[in-house]
Amino acid sequence: MSEFDAPSFNGDLEADDEPPPGASELRRRLEACDAFVVASPEYNASMPGLLKNAIDWVSRFRPQPFNERHGLLMSASPSMVGGNRGLWSLRIPFEHLGARIYPDMFSLAQAHRGLADDGRLADPELQTRFETTVAGFMALVEASKHYPCARKAWVEYLGERLDPELERVE
Ligand SMILES: Cc1cc2nc3c(=O)[nH]c(=O)nc-3n(C[C@H](O)[C@H](O)[C@H](O)COP(=O)(O)O)c2cc1C
Repeated sequence: MSEFDAPSFNGDLEADDEPPPGASELRRRLEACDAFVVASPEYNASMPGLLKNAIDWVSRFRPQPFNERHGLLMSASPSMVGGNRGLWSLRIPFEHLGARIYPDMFSLAQAHRGLADDGRLADPELQTRFETTVAGFMALVEASKHYPCARKAWVEYLGERLDPELERVE
Protein backbone atom coordinates (compact mmCIF):
# COMPACT_ATOMS: atom_id res chain seq x y z
CA MET A 1 0.00 0.00 0.00
CA SER A 2 2.98 2.34 0.41
CA GLU A 3 2.97 2.69 -3.38
CA PHE A 4 -0.59 4.02 -3.23
CA ASP A 5 -0.23 6.26 -0.20
CA ALA A 6 -2.20 9.51 -0.30
CA PRO A 7 -3.19 12.22 2.19
CA SER A 8 -6.60 11.91 3.83
CA PHE A 9 -9.18 12.71 1.18
CA ASN A 10 -10.30 16.30 1.29
CA GLY A 11 -12.42 18.00 -1.34
CA ASP A 12 -10.42 21.24 -1.05
CA LEU A 13 -7.18 19.37 -1.73
CA GLU A 14 -8.82 17.74 -4.72
CA ALA A 15 -9.96 21.07 -6.11
CA ASP A 16 -6.59 22.79 -5.65
CA ASP A 17 -4.01 20.24 -6.67
CA GLU A 18 -3.14 17.40 -8.96
CA PRO A 19 -4.31 14.02 -7.62
CA PRO A 20 -1.80 12.51 -5.18
CA PRO A 21 0.82 10.37 -6.99
CA GLY A 22 -0.22 7.29 -4.98
CA ALA A 23 -3.82 7.58 -6.23
CA SER A 24 -2.64 8.05 -9.82
CA GLU A 25 -0.44 4.98 -9.48
CA LEU A 26 -3.32 2.83 -8.22
CA ARG A 27 -5.46 4.08 -11.10
CA ARG A 28 -2.68 3.24 -13.57
CA ARG A 29 -2.32 -0.26 -12.15
CA LEU A 30 -6.08 -0.88 -12.25
CA GLU A 31 -6.40 0.33 -15.81
CA ALA A 32 -3.59 -1.97 -16.91
CA CYS A 33 -5.51 -5.03 -15.69
CA ASP A 34 -8.79 -6.83 -16.30
CA ALA A 35 -9.07 -7.73 -12.64
CA PHE A 36 -7.59 -7.04 -9.25
CA VAL A 37 -6.99 -8.90 -6.01
CA VAL A 38 -7.14 -7.14 -2.67
CA ALA A 39 -5.53 -8.94 0.27
CA SER A 40 -6.35 -6.80 3.26
CA PRO A 41 -6.11 -7.02 7.02
CA GLU A 42 -9.23 -6.34 9.08
CA TYR A 43 -9.17 -3.38 11.43
CA ASN A 44 -11.78 -3.33 14.16
CA ALA A 45 -14.11 -5.58 12.19
CA SER A 46 -13.91 -3.40 9.11
CA MET A 47 -11.53 -2.30 6.36
CA PRO A 48 -8.34 -0.35 7.15
CA GLY A 49 -8.78 3.41 6.75
CA LEU A 50 -5.71 3.54 4.51
CA LEU A 51 -7.39 1.27 1.98
CA LYS A 52 -10.71 3.15 2.08
CA ASN A 53 -8.83 6.41 1.57
CA ALA A 54 -7.10 4.96 -1.51
CA ILE A 55 -10.46 3.76 -2.88
CA ASP A 56 -11.99 7.20 -2.28
CA TRP A 57 -9.20 9.02 -4.13
CA VAL A 58 -9.28 6.61 -7.07
CA SER A 59 -13.08 6.87 -7.29
CA ARG A 60 -12.68 10.50 -8.34
CA PHE A 61 -10.99 9.71 -11.66
CA ARG A 62 -13.07 9.56 -14.82
CA PRO A 63 -13.65 7.06 -16.29
CA GLN A 64 -14.06 5.67 -12.80
CA PRO A 65 -11.51 2.82 -12.78
CA PHE A 66 -13.29 0.28 -10.57
CA ASN A 67 -16.35 0.17 -12.83
CA GLU A 68 -16.65 -3.19 -14.60
CA ARG A 69 -13.37 -4.52 -13.18
CA HIS A 70 -13.43 -7.89 -11.51
CA GLY A 71 -12.14 -8.14 -7.96
CA LEU A 72 -11.20 -10.93 -5.58
CA LEU A 73 -10.99 -10.28 -1.85
CA MET A 74 -8.68 -12.10 0.54
CA SER A 75 -7.51 -11.73 4.11
CA ALA A 76 -5.44 -13.41 6.79
CA SER A 77 -5.50 -12.68 10.48
CA PRO A 78 -4.62 -14.34 13.79
CA SER A 79 -8.30 -14.15 14.78
CA MET A 80 -10.85 -16.94 14.39
CA VAL A 81 -12.63 -15.11 11.57
CA GLY A 82 -9.48 -14.44 9.58
CA GLY A 83 -10.37 -10.84 8.75
CA ASN A 84 -13.50 -11.89 6.86
CA ARG A 85 -15.65 -9.08 8.30
CA GLY A 86 -13.26 -6.56 6.78
CA LEU A 87 -13.84 -8.15 3.38
CA TRP A 88 -17.62 -7.89 3.71
CA SER A 89 -17.23 -4.21 4.51
CA LEU A 90 -15.00 -3.77 1.44
CA ARG A 91 -17.68 -5.19 -0.84
CA ILE A 92 -19.83 -2.12 -0.20
CA PRO A 93 -17.60 0.59 -1.73
CA PHE A 94 -16.35 -1.73 -4.46
CA GLU A 95 -19.80 -2.85 -5.54
CA HIS A 96 -21.05 0.72 -5.30
CA LEU A 97 -18.27 1.64 -7.73
CA GLY A 98 -19.37 -1.03 -10.19
CA ALA A 99 -16.60 -3.56 -9.50
CA ARG A 100 -17.64 -7.17 -9.95
CA ILE A 101 -16.57 -8.72 -6.71
CA TYR A 102 -16.26 -12.49 -6.88
CA PRO A 103 -18.84 -14.17 -4.63
CA ASP A 104 -16.26 -16.42 -2.94
CA MET A 105 -13.71 -14.80 -0.67
CA PHE A 106 -10.77 -16.41 1.04
CA SER A 107 -9.94 -15.66 4.68
CA LEU A 108 -7.24 -17.49 6.57
CA ALA A 109 -8.11 -17.70 10.28
CA GLN A 110 -5.38 -18.20 12.88
CA ALA A 111 -2.90 -17.13 10.24
CA HIS A 112 0.03 -17.27 12.68
CA ARG A 113 -0.41 -21.07 12.59
CA GLY A 114 -1.74 -21.29 9.06
CA LEU A 115 1.39 -21.45 6.92
CA ALA A 116 3.79 -24.34 6.39
CA ASP A 117 7.53 -23.76 5.99
CA ASP A 118 7.24 -23.95 2.21
CA GLY A 119 4.79 -21.03 2.19
CA ARG A 120 1.76 -23.17 1.36
CA LEU A 121 -1.19 -23.40 3.70
CA ALA A 122 -0.60 -25.92 6.44
CA ASP A 123 -4.09 -27.43 6.04
CA PRO A 124 -4.28 -29.25 2.67
CA GLU A 125 -8.06 -28.77 2.46
CA LEU A 126 -7.65 -25.03 2.86
CA GLN A 127 -4.85 -25.06 0.28
CA THR A 128 -7.25 -26.71 -2.19
CA ARG A 129 -9.97 -24.23 -1.34
CA PHE A 130 -7.50 -21.36 -1.87
CA GLU A 131 -6.49 -22.72 -5.27
CA THR A 132 -10.05 -23.36 -6.47
CA THR A 133 -11.07 -19.86 -5.40
CA VAL A 134 -8.24 -18.26 -7.39
CA ALA A 135 -8.76 -20.57 -10.39
CA GLY A 136 -12.54 -19.97 -10.42
CA PHE A 137 -12.00 -16.23 -10.28
CA MET A 138 -9.45 -16.31 -13.12
CA ALA A 139 -11.80 -18.44 -15.26
CA LEU A 140 -14.64 -15.96 -14.75
CA VAL A 141 -12.43 -12.99 -15.63
CA GLU A 142 -11.16 -14.75 -18.73
CA ALA A 143 -14.70 -15.66 -19.83
CA SER A 144 -15.96 -12.15 -19.25
CA LYS A 145 -13.03 -10.69 -21.21
CA HIS A 146 -14.01 -12.67 -24.29
CA TYR A 147 -17.78 -12.54 -23.84
CA PRO A 148 -18.63 -9.19 -22.24
CA CYS A 149 -22.30 -9.40 -21.37
CA ALA A 150 -23.02 -6.46 -19.12
CA ARG A 151 -21.47 -3.14 -20.08
CA LYS A 152 -22.67 -0.20 -18.08
CA ALA A 153 -21.80 3.39 -17.43
CA TRP A 154 -21.21 4.11 -13.81
CA VAL A 155 -23.69 6.43 -12.10
CA GLU A 156 -23.01 7.43 -8.55
CA TYR A 157 -26.54 8.54 -7.74
CA LEU A 158 -29.07 6.81 -9.94
CA GLY A 159 -31.66 9.28 -11.21
CA GLU A 160 -29.51 12.35 -10.79
CA ARG A 161 -29.44 14.79 -13.69
CA LEU A 162 -26.26 15.77 -15.47
CA ASP A 163 -24.93 18.81 -13.74
CA PRO A 164 -21.56 20.21 -14.78
CA GLU A 165 -21.11 21.63 -11.32
CA LEU A 166 -21.14 18.17 -9.77
CA GLU A 167 -19.71 16.08 -12.60
CA ARG A 168 -20.62 12.90 -10.83
CA VAL A 169 -22.37 11.10 -13.63
CA GLU A 170 -20.25 9.33 -16.18
C1 LIG B 1 -5.90 -1.17 14.63
C2 LIG B 1 -5.99 -2.66 14.37
C3 LIG B 1 -7.20 -3.29 14.47
C4 LIG B 1 -7.30 -4.65 14.19
N1 LIG B 1 -8.51 -5.24 14.26
C5 LIG B 1 -8.65 -6.53 13.91
C6 LIG B 1 -9.94 -7.13 13.88
O1 LIG B 1 -10.96 -6.52 14.16
N2 LIG B 1 -10.02 -8.43 13.50
C7 LIG B 1 -8.93 -9.17 13.14
O2 LIG B 1 -9.08 -10.32 12.77
N3 LIG B 1 -7.68 -8.63 13.17
C8 LIG B 1 -7.51 -7.34 13.54
N4 LIG B 1 -6.28 -6.77 13.53
C9 LIG B 1 -5.15 -7.58 13.07
C10 LIG B 1 -4.95 -7.34 11.57
O3 LIG B 1 -6.03 -7.82 10.81
C11 LIG B 1 -3.67 -8.02 11.04
O4 LIG B 1 -3.75 -9.40 11.24
C12 LIG B 1 -2.44 -7.49 11.69
O5 LIG B 1 -2.44 -6.08 11.61
C13 LIG B 1 -1.16 -8.00 11.01
O6 LIG B 1 -1.30 -7.81 9.62
P1 LIG B 1 -0.09 -7.49 8.67
O7 LIG B 1 0.88 -8.60 8.88
O8 LIG B 1 -0.72 -7.48 7.31
O9 LIG B 1 0.40 -6.15 9.09
C14 LIG B 1 -6.15 -5.41 13.83
C15 LIG B 1 -4.91 -4.74 13.75
C16 LIG B 1 -4.83 -3.40 14.00
C17 LIG B 1 -3.47 -2.73 13.88
